[in-house]
Amino acid sequence: MSGKLEGRVAIITGSGSGMGKAIASLYASEGAIVMIADFNEAAINETVKEITDAGGKASGFVADMSKENDIIDLVQATVERYDHVNILVNNAGILDNFRTVTNTSTNDWNRVLAVNLNGPYMASREAINVMLDQPDGGVIINTASVGGLFGVRGGAAYTASKHGIIGLTQNIAGTYGIYNNIRANAIAPGGVETNLTNTIKDPDELGMKAISALGPSPMGKPEEIAKVALFLASDDSSFVNGAVVTVDGGLTAS
Ligand SMILES: NC(=O)c1ccc[n+]([C@@H]2O[C@H](COP(=O)([O-])OP(=O)(O)OC[C@H]3O[C@@H](n4cnc5c(N)ncnc54)[C@H](O)[C@@H]3O)[C@@H](O)[C@H]2O)c1
Repeated sequence: MSGKLEGRVAIITGSGSGMGKAIASLYASEGAIVMIADFNEAAINETVKEITDAGGKASGFVADMSKENDIIDLVQATVERYDHVNILVNNAGILDNFRTVTNTSTNDWNRVLAVNLNGPYMASREAINVMLDQPDGGVIINTASVGGLFGVRGGAAYTASKHGIIGLTQNIAGTYGIYNNIRANAIAPGGVETNLTNTIKDPDELGMKAISALGPSPMGKPEEIAKVALFLASDDSSFVNGAVVTVDGGLTAS
């Protein structure tokens, strides 16, 4: 039986851990050839091993998704290895310690925007240039956040970056989607059990007060996000373009 992504080549950024890793494993189990892109080499090797041990096709590429040269090299290496880029999942992202505007340094702001927004822009640009030459186009999936839909689900930089990636998604969808068979959609997860929260250091007092006032969040598993990412990558979602799919267990429903 053939999988939903049989033979398709997928670049998944930030796939050494969490949601990216779960997406890569699920895509591979559905027949995709997955390019594991992350800046953590040990995590890449572990993910590639797990996928190939399970009979999937995967290889790794070390890339800092805030660096233009790394991103250009990543897309080029994918084309050299596998001829195509059918799917790009812009998933790598970092938090901002819930810092409010006045507590955000320019350096911190630039770093969060570089990884969460500039990276997806540059990777999309490089991948779309490849997809434009493919008769069957391609698919872009961006990991946003409920922080991209509301004001205080993260700090100032994280919130701005995730609002930005939704705008980027819809711009790509509304231009290339209609004329070039390239679909772009975003996933807006709520709380998900990954390694992301382990990176929080010295969280901002006012930022935490604002987010805590919203109440507790249900926690999902990376695999629950991966299933939505599979739908968006496969032909099952052929008429879904420019959507933001909230996957938060009802967090933002009320
Ligand atoms: N976990 C949550 O609750 C949650 C909620 C909403 C949105 N998100 C978003 O989901 C995405 C994935 O996060 P996760 O929760 O799986 O976190 P995670 O920390 O488990 O995984 C993130 C991966 O990205 C990699 N990474 C970070 N910066 C990178 C860079 N500059 N270049 C290359 N790789 C880099 C890390 O090494 C790691 O492997 C992020 O964009 C995050 O903002 C997470």
